Amino acid sequence: MRNVLNKLADKVDVSDPSHVRFENELDSFFSLFRRYLVEKSSGNTLDWDKIKSPNPEEVVDYKVIEQQPENVSNLSKLAVLKLNGGLGTSMGCVGPKSVIEVRDGNTFLDLSVRQIEYLNRQYDSDVPLLLMNSFNTDKDTEHLIKKYSANRIRIRSFNQSRFPRVYKDSLLPVPTDYNDSLDSWYPPGHGDLFESLYASGELDALISQGREILFVSNGDNLGATVDLKILNHMIETDAEYIMELTDKTRADVKGGTLISYDGQVRLLEVAQVPKEHIDDFKNIRKFKNFNTNNLWINLKAVKRLVESSALAMEIIPNEKTISRKGMDVTVLQLETACGAAIRHFGGAHGVVVPRSRFLPVKTCSDLLMVKSDLFYLQHGALKLDPTRFGPNPLIKLGSHFKKVSGFNARISHIPKLLELDHLTITGNVFLGKNVTLKGTVIIVCSDGQKIDIPNGSVLENVVITGNLQI
Ligand code: UTP
Repeated sequence: MRNVLNKLADKVDVSDPSHVRFENELDSFFSLFRRYLVEKSSGNTLDWDKIKSPNPEEVVDYKVIEQQPENVSNLSKLAVLKLNGGLGTSMGCVGPKSVIEVRDGNTFLDLSVRQIEYLNRQYDSDVPLLLMNSFNTDKDTEHLIKKYSANRIRIRSFNQSRFPRVYKDSLLPVPTDYNDSLDSWYPPGHGDLFESLYASGELDALISQGREILFVSNGDNLGATVDLKILNHMIETDAEYIMELTDKTRADVKGGTLISYDGQVRLLEVAQVPKEHIDDFKNIRKFKNFNTNNLWINLKAVKRLVESSALAMEIIPNEKTISRKGMDVTVLQLETACGAAIRHFGGAHGVVVPRSRFLPVKTCSDLLMVKSDLFYLQHGALKLDPTRFGPNPLIKLGSHFKKVSGFNARISHIPKLLELDHLTITGNVFLGKNVTLKGTVIIVCSDGQKIDIPNGSVLENVVITGNLQI
């Protein structure tokens, strides 16, 4: 493997400015790959009996932190980073996921920008916004952020690494040249944040500007706003890393959870759980909360850990199918997650935050919810309507709504959901204008048929099936 990677590196002329970066990326990939082989052969799994629930210092409730003052001067120590390496493919969109329109004409990116702008205006601060792009998202993102150049916000962006995919069978790299097609490469997960922040020079730049803490979150989590109380708590406790957790419901049994292991807090992901303990892992009474991926990270600690190559995060092997010479081939990409780095930081702990800080948009079912009257937009942040009673509704839209285009075509006017508990729609269903959905509503349209819900309908606790034009 080393020889093949060296040959790949030699394909770029030393005078080419991308040469050094490419060589470094291949070195990093090689050490990840070697670690993967070692861990695979040693069967490196956790000893289930050593897993303990975290103690009250390791997982603190937000209610305790709420007593903290909101020390506005701390904002001079803060920078905000959005993970922006992912594409919108799972929602049937081309380009970066962050450019999907989510609310009142705003994209994910627009909302993040508006939030930080408002923060800076409100507190007369200068918190910068960083975007970690991937080779899949950088061009589109660079183009889009030009429109904010006149705004009161400093936006910096940098690229995460580009690693070679390997064939699953031979474990040899797919690309044979630096310029090989895009599907020969992959962005190695958001765990790459630490190395890429360092390699891009942005880490040193932030530290030299006096920034101490980076608030990181998924670009698609609309609930991840700057919280002055958590920031204050981080500074007061001298913690190098804080992970925001939120209570599990039966809908999110798969989320990674914090555990205490050998006297350290660690993230336990479902992929690390031995098969015989999966049910145990999903038990929401035993593992009560899960990682929202809202992370507060001390920048000097990142520098120390990257420089000492101490950030060995659990490797997540991910299989994909690509086409080569007209044939489907299975390739492997080795990824890491930034939550898994928690165990390497001093004083690291979790904070259990209200569910409102976790509002991810992964599917068009989530999109329907965030576009609806359940929420209102306030300075780029989505706030739950105060008259809403109980948890968010459970919404399941079928395959006709998988792509944003299919969703927009069928639900061109967002129904009122304030009193909705549960909605299931499957099949070719079209909603008219001013529709209100309450309680439990199930609409099932048979294959090859169509259901039109007329303008102004109020559906409450109903099941609609077949080929109905009501
Ligand atoms: P994911 O695609 O990993 O979503 O993207 P997920 O699996 O639901 O979330 P996690 O991993 O459990 O938290 C999460 C965020 O990370 C970014 C995406 O753009 C998204 O904002 N991401 C993902 C990167 O920036 N780089 C990557 O290589 C992968």
